[in-house]
Amino acid sequence: MNESASSRLAAILTGGEPPADLYSVEGSRLYERFAEFDDSEQRELLRRLAATEGDILELACGGGRLALPFLALGRPVVGIDLSEEMIRILQDRYDRLPRSRRRVPLTAVVADMRNFELRRLFGAIVLATTSIFLLDASDREQLFAAVRRHLAPGGLFFVTVYESSLEVGASSTRLVPLTGDVPAVALLSDQVREDGRTREVTALQISRDHDGALDVAAFSSVVHTASKEELDDELVRAGFTHVESIALSGGDAGGLRIRGYSL
Ligand SMILES: C[S@@+](CC[C@H](N)C(=O)[O-])C[C@H]1O[C@@H](n2cnc3c(N)ncnc32)[C@H](O)[C@@H]1O
Repeated sequence: MNESASSRLAAILTGGEPPADLYSVEGSRLYERFAEFDDSEQRELLRRLAATEGDILELACGGGRLALPFLALGRPVVGIDLSEEMIRILQDRYDRLPRSRRRVPLTAVVADMRNFELRRLFGAIVLATTSIFLLDASDREQLFAAVRRHLAPGGLFFVTVYESSLEVGASSTRLVPLTGDVPAVALLSDQVREDGRTREVTALQISRDHDGALDVAAFSSVVHTASKEELDDELVRAGFTHVESIALSGGDAGGLRIRGYSL
């Protein structure tokens, strides 16, 4: 079966409207609502970053779930993201921080991680949240070349990957309550597609509008997969050396792992 149960649910609830991109303006806003209280990776990344030196770059930083906590290290942070809305949310959150936390500069830039040019070097570059797999293998080659151009001598490139143990066709689903003035939930689903190499991520925002009518918005994103061995091979071909691997979580559907690479 090609269609996931959550795509079918989305079609039923929205009257067949095709889902919008998860990182469109509305999708970015929903993402930030369900990611707001998610602190996964944060503690381990902070610990690893503390052992590096120099400025920190976060690729695909979104609204700053990780980039803002990185400021606690007292080193300049740059976050890039392709979504203008994500960068607007990040800038807005930074501007609203207490003055004491804004002593450390954060620069938020709309840019494509496949091809960015910031004209400075970083002691650490982070690509978290499995966002590396928003890119296919040929886009990842471009990404690695861009990271090479920006990594200072002795710097480290940290990539968080999710190792899924889901079989083709299997899915995992979770419900996240959303804060706001009307009761709302996000239903998030992740299904391995028939090709076995990509996953479909669906996010449904479900609430009632002020008149009491059901209000559903559907978003989706395709995520590529590669084993850690394949990813290491790609990075070695791009000139990197794998230096460490930190397991973050396990579970039925797979586990998160931070992988560190040097040049
Ligand atoms: C799963 S979210 C992660 C956001 C953030 N790192 C977090 O942990 O909340 C993926 C992010 O990647 C961004 N993105 C997608 N393709 C991109 C690209 N080619 N270059 C830069 N950012 C991209 C999206 O806009 C989105 O903000």
